[in-house]
Amino acid sequence: MGEILILPAPLSVERGTGAFDAPRPWGVHAPAMAKDAVASLGDVVRLADRGRAQILFAEVEGDLPPEAYVLTVEAPRVRVEASTREGFLRAASSLRQLLHDGPLPVVRIEDAPRFAWRGLHVDVARHAFPLADLKRFVDAMALQKFNRLHWHLTDDQGWRIEITSWPRLTSVGSRRAESPRRGAREEGDGTPYAAYYTQDDVRELVAYAAVRGISVVPEIDMPGHAQAALAAYPQVGSGAPAEVWTRWGISERLFGVHDKALSFLDDVLEEVAALFPGPFVHLGGDEAPTAEWEVCAHAAERMQAEGVADARALQGWFHRRMAATLARLGKRPVAWDEVLECGAPKETIVMAWRDAAHAQAAARAGHDVVLCPMSHAYFDHYQGPEASEPEAIGGFTDLATVHSFEPLDDTWPAEQAKHLLGVQANLWSEYIHDAEHLEYMAWPRGSALAEVAWSSREARTDGGFEVRVARMMERLEAMGVTHRRIS
Ligand code: ACM
Repeated sequence: MGEILILPAPLSVERGTGAFDAPRPWGVHAPAMAKDAVASLGDVVRLADRGRAQILFAEVEGDLPPEAYVLTVEAPRVRVEASTREGFLRAASSLRQLLHDGPLPVVRIEDAPRFAWRGLHVDVARHAFPLADLKRFVDAMALQKFNRLHWHLTDDQGWRIEITSWPRLTSVGSRRAESPRRGAREEGDGTPYAAYYTQDDVRELVAYAAVRGISVVPEIDMPGHAQAALAAYPQVGSGAPAEVWTRWGISERLFGVHDKALSFLDDVLEEVAALFPGPFVHLGGDEAPTAEWEVCAHAAERMQAEGVADARALQGWFHRRMAATLARLGKRPVAWDEVLECGAPKETIVMAWRDAAHAQAAARAGHDVVLCPMSHAYFDHYQGPEASEPEAIGGFTDLATVHSFEPLDDTWPAEQAKHLLGVQANLWSEYIHDAEHLEYMAWPRGSALAEVAWSSREARTDGGFEVRVARMMERLEAMGVTHRRIS
C-alpha cells in the first residue's frame, strides 16, 4: 500500500485501513460553488451524475477558514468539505494527486494554508513564453496550491502587454534589435527579438488561472525599468530618447514626473486594471537610479511645487501619485522593497526581495509584506555546479536551500509577523530562453516553495519531503512539464 505523498504536506493526515480502485464512472454531487473544483478533476477521473463510486462536495457553512478543506476517503466514497470555492479547489488538487498515485487510500485529511500569498513570478520582458506554456505553468502551480502568478510584463528590454490607447508600446516597445549572446554576455547575438501579449491573450490567461484559483498580479515597472516604454514614447521620459535595451542590467532611464508622463501612466493603469479582475497591481519601484531626475528641469519643478526634498523622495511622491490612481481604480499597489526608502503609502504591499530585514522594516512601518528573498527564492540562480548547469545569472540556490527557508523565524516580533502575507519565488528570464528552461528552473524548487508557503512548519519538516517531491516530479512529467532531476 502506497504512502500518502501529497505535496505540499497537509496539516493532518489520518490514515485508515485499505485502498480501493474505483469503478468508473464516478458519480459527483456538488454545489455550484464547487463547479471549478469538479471541472479540475475531469482529466483524471470520468465523472457522471451517477456511479458506484461517489464524490460528494459539501459546503460547510462558515466553519472552515478560506482555502481550508477536509477530504475523507471511505471506499467507495470521497467526501470533500470546504466553505469557499478556493477550499474546494485546494481539496481537488490533493485528490488529483491521490488519484494519480494509484488506488485511493482510506484517509481523512484536514488541511489549511499557512500563508495567504503563495506566489511565483515570471519575467516575460527579457524573454516571453507562449500562452500555452504559461497555461501549463499555471496547471503545475495549481496542483501545488499556489494562488498568485506575478506577471512581470514590462522592463527595459521589452514591453509585452497591448495597451490600446498607446499602440507604440507594443509596435515599438515589444521589439529589440538583439539580445546578449548566450555564453558571451558582453556581446550581442545579432538576432532581432519581438513578442507581446494581446489583450485577448491576457484575458485568456487570467481566466484560465482564475478557474484554477490563481489570481494574476500584473507588474508595470516604474519609474525605472522603463526603457522599452521610453523608446516607444520619448515624451513620457525624463531624459534623452532611449532604445529598447539590448543588454541586461540596471538602466538609468526613468519615466518623467511631468503631467504628460503621469497621464500616460494613468491611461496604462486604467487599461491594466480593466484586464485583471484581481485586487492587486504591482508598480515595480525597484532599481531606480535618481541621476536623471537630479538634472531634469521638470523634476526640479515638481520637487519645488510639492515641497519634496530630493530626487529619492520624489520617487516617494511619484509612487503615492500612482497609488492614488490605483485607489481610484479599486486596486491595491504592490511594490519592491526599495519603495520603503522613499515613502510609500501604508496600503502598499511590500515585496521584500533583498532580505528578511527589509521585510521586517516594512512590517514595522505598517505595510503588509511578501517575502521573496534572494537568499532562498531567486530561481534564476544556479541550482547545481555551474559547470554542469545551463547558463544562469549567478548565485546558488538549490532545492535544499529553498525547502529550508523559514519565513517566520524567531527574529519576528508578533506585532510584525501579522503583516507577513506570504512568500513567493521569482523567475527572472535574462538567461531563460524558452518554456522548457523556465520549467527546469521552476521545478522542483517551486515544489519546495509550495511547502514553505502552504505547509505548517511541523508538516514541512517531517522528514518526508524527499519522497513527496520525487512523486511530484512524476506527476509533473505526466502533465508534460519539464523539471530538473533531483540530485
Ligand atoms: C529585483 O530583483 N530587482 C526585484
